[in-house]
Amino acid sequence: MSLDVQRFDRAITDPAIHQAFNRFDNLVRADEDPTFPARRLDETAAILSEPPSHIDRSRWLVFDGAAVVGATQLDRDREDAANLHVGWCEVDVIPEFRRRGIGRRLTERVGVAAADSGRTVVMAETSSLVPAGEAFAVALGAEPGLAAETSELRIDAIDLPLMEVWIEQGRLKEDRFRLFWVDGPWPEALRPEVLSLTRVMNDAPLGDLDVNDQQLTVATLISFEDELRSRRIDRMTAVVEQRATGRLVGFTQVFINPSFPDLLQQGDTGVFPEFRGTGLGKWLKAAMVRRITGERPEIMRIRTENATANAPMLAINHAMGFTLHHTNTVWQIASQQLARTWRSD
Ligand SMILES: CC(C)(COP(=O)(O)OP(=O)(O)OC[C@H]1O[C@@H](n2cnc3c(N)ncnc32)[C@H](O)[C@@H]1OP(=O)(O)O)[C@@H](O)C(=O)NCCC(=O)NCCS
Repeated sequence: MSLDVQRFDRAITDPAIHQAFNRFDNLVRADEDPTFPARRLDETAAILSEPPSHIDRSRWLVFDGAAVVGATQLDRDREDAANLHVGWCEVDVIPEFRRRGIGRRLTERVGVAAADSGRTVVMAETSSLVPAGEAFAVALGAEPGLAAETSELRIDAIDLPLMEVWIEQGRLKEDRFRLFWVDGPWPEALRPEVLSLTRVMNDAPLGDLDVNDQQLTVATLISFEDELRSRRIDRMTAVVEQRATGRLVGFTQVFINPSFPDLLQQGDTGVFPEFRGTGLGKWLKAAMVRRITGERPEIMRIRTENATANAPMLAINHAMGFTLHHTNTVWQIASQQLARTWRSD
């Protein structure tokens, strides 16, 4: 077997690689979850040629001739000053090429690159749909750091009358709170408030992961929005503002990707502690569902991922009708250890 491993530290602009990577990525993802549609070539091209500007991303592609059969990436967020010790990794090998040592060779390179750039810990996520990923992480010596679950809700299974109740209960608070929408990028004038608002997500459980509260910056916000634009992903955000202070106290966000037109990806939802337990989270989620069902008839299901320990969010999701699709584990390992794991054998 003569395989060629190439490293890329900058944008990949070669259309032949876009094509090969698209094929590879769709094979890997179909093996994981056949219910997930294939990613469009134009989105793959955007992912490879316009990486997020706040992240240093290294990629290694394993070629068998012109075909990509394995890949890994190491992401280093430059903006999140509290987590400069962390590198995020993803590694995939197409099923026919597994158990030949490709994964080991790739993760060893990730470990070396992470250590060389001062990232002392490498984290990666696996899915229960791919037992090979979990077995591989265990074989590496990685530690499970966070248990999470991915749930799905079919639109035709949503408890719509309950959603109307939640909206009505929210409306009773309209003298004190205002719910408004931001479609697409945040208005520039709102960015400082948005940075304060999104800090609420640091309350989401992070298990035993060696991470600190995330520090978002304006550069991170812009980078996310550029990425959504280049991948043609629509974002809708519902926000609750406290009228008396003008403070943004809660939000929920969803993403619609043209590669997966029938699927709505539920993103972050957060309400600040002093406003919890009063129905703002339910109001936000129900208002979003009502908008989606009214405006986006092509959407058939909603997916979301939550920490298994996140009882309040899971309670809302279960009441809406979300059911477990699969579980996820976020693993962590010292980069020095990752770099030498396989060398000994
Ligand atoms: C995880 C993955 C990248 C492994 O790639 P690979 O090239 O098959 O891995 P290797 O051949 O280098 O395996 C290294 C060791 O991991 C362990 N391992 C890997 N797959 C395994 C499996 N299916 N069952 C049990 N152990 C396994 C073994 O100890 C193996 O060594 P061995 O073959 O000498 O026994 C591949 O299965 C994959 O692409 N899975 C889907 C994506 C994923 O879950 N990625 C990980 C999280 S980002």
